[in-house]
Amino acid sequence: MKKLEQLYEGKAKKVFATDTPQLLIVDYKDDATAFNGEKKGTIAGKGVINNRVTNHLMKLLESKGIPTHFVEEISERETVVKRVKIILLEVIVRNIAAGSLSKRLGIPEGTKLASTVLEYCYKDDALGDPIVNDYHIVALNLATKAELEKIADYSFKINQILSDYLKDLGIELIDFKLEFGRTSDGTIVLADEISPDTCRFWDSKTGEKLDKDRFRRDMGGVEDAYKEILKRLLGE
Ligand code: TMP
Repeated sequence: MKKLEQLYEGKAKKVFATDTPQLLIVDYKDDATAFNGEKKGTIAGKGVINNRVTNHLMKLLESKGIPTHFVEEISERETVVKRVKIILLEVIVRNIAAGSLSKRLGIPEGTKLASTVLEYCYKDDALGDPIVNDYHIVALNLATKAELEKIADYSFKINQILSDYLKDLGIELIDFKLEFGRTSDGTIVLADEISPDTCRFWDSKTGEKLDKDRFRRDMGGVEDAYKEILKRLLGE
């Protein structure tokens, strides 16, 4: 597999073309941003950890019947993935109130929700990723009704699989963000990453935050939190 020209650079990853048209290489960076890029920093070793954690969880999900873009990890920071057209939605799944939900609805962080909440945000940095509902998504041609049903179905299944898996490792899955894409034949697959950047992980016993909130909120111990997640998931 030959790494060719860079196609895209995002806030946390770069994407490269390869000599196979349907495959890309993702390269994870240590750069961290928050609040739509307003806060910038570096988390040493984050790229390596997020690459490995994402691939570990993508493999778990594949084994349970969720189609993903994952193909092969080729280095500490690089992974081959299927080329997809990203659906311009951030799909957020919430089990326990935290972050923007707590702020918006006045529910204290840590409050267990009576049932799982699914939210969609329109992926548009200039607009600050505004929240949208099913009607907006179909009306704006972001996804069809059938695609959205599939995305919701996968998202709830992913929540169940990840929550169960993490619980055994002493981690509570508070909430997380997913992105989906369409392959060349229109199949919907899970894309992007699943990492401490995109999930809230709390230690089941102590409630300690083991995710990017430590960076967002200047809590310190950011690198150690990412390392702890790598250790619990991959045993290293
Ligand atoms: P929120 O409470 O700030 O809306 O975040 C919900 C979840 O989504 C949380 O696990 C962090 C994740 N997230 C991202 O992955 N990217 C983002 O840009 C934002 C705002 C949140």
